[in-house]
Amino acid sequence: METCHNRTGADTEALKAEILKLKKEKNAVILAHYYVDGELQDIADHVGDSLALAQKAASTASDADIIVMCGVNFMGDTVKVLCPDKKVLVPDNNAGCSLADSCPADEFEKFVKEHPGYTVISYVNTSVAVKALSDVLVTSGNARKIVESFPQDARLIFGPDRNLGSYINSVTGRDMLLWDGACHVHQRFSAEAIAKLKEEHPGAPVLVHPECPRPVVLMADKVGSTAVLLKYALESDAREFIVATESGILHQMRKGAPDKTFIPAPPLDSTCGCNDCAYMKLNTLRKLRDCLRDETPEVTVDPALAEAALRPINRMLELS
Ligand code: 13P
Ligand code: SF4
Repeated sequence: METCHNRTGADTEALKAEILKLKKEKNAVILAHYYVDGELQDIADHVGDSLALAQKAASTASDADIIVMCGVNFMGDTVKVLCPDKKVLVPDNNAGCSLADSCPADEFEKFVKEHPGYTVISYVNTSVAVKALSDVLVTSGNARKIVESFPQDARLIFGPDRNLGSYINSVTGRDMLLWDGACHVHQRFSAEAIAKLKEEHPGAPVLVHPECPRPVVLMADKVGSTAVLLKYALESDAREFIVATESGILHQMRKGAPDKTFIPAPPLDSTCGCNDCAYMKLNTLRKLRDCLRDETPEVTVDPALAEAALRPINRMLELS
């Protein structure tokens, strides 16, 4: 398996040069999520959280003939729904998402039908079929604002992330019905392990993604999307930080504040101290080069589902 660690510096430079050449020749734009490897973030035209990437796809990225999404499949699907006339490519179409997988569309549909009169709010980390069953989508960056746009007594379903849903319930005073899904990466962070780390680094603010379980969220100095945590880390006067989210975000933190120390919060059941999303890490420079060169794997979405999913995606973009 190719990683940035078993490639020579010369190979890396040659790959980067090829990617830039292909990108220009084919009028392609490269989007990358904060969780992919740093070298992919560095070569991308736009790097961001799920919200920023969806916004980019809806705006400037649409000037391109080809959009490459370095992230996971639901992100490629969202781009394709927003830009149906573009060729949308992903470096590896095995890049799924455990959170999206925790919400099969047929089961979610049954749940929705069991609760008539409820408005369905879904996280973007879902299949196109689940999006199509939703009234509005959210990301971790706009979930609070969008939930608060509904009356206090509105009957709301929130899926699929029980942790994000429970966090939003707690900060908005809502009582949304939650789908019982979770992300395997964020679910593994441990409040006990963070408490131990905090003893060693008492001045370090704890930065927590809201996909983490409630005991971890309760330890946070800042809860937010990757973009929110990055902004906080760069603007804060603190010198060191404990970071409870996927490890890819550390790249931008270290790049933006090389004089600060960013400590990945360890999961309780691991000694490696790393918190990688195996799906995000399927993206590599070589696969990015190959997908630009061969124009495959291409993202395709069933047109009827895409049409149904576009409405809640656009509603999210309008409310953001
Ligand atoms: P952001 O909303 O911070 O981008 O994180 C979502 C996520 O889990 C991407 O996999
Ligand atoms: Fe999905 Fe979790 Fe990976 Fe994000 S970090 S893509 S939610 S599995």
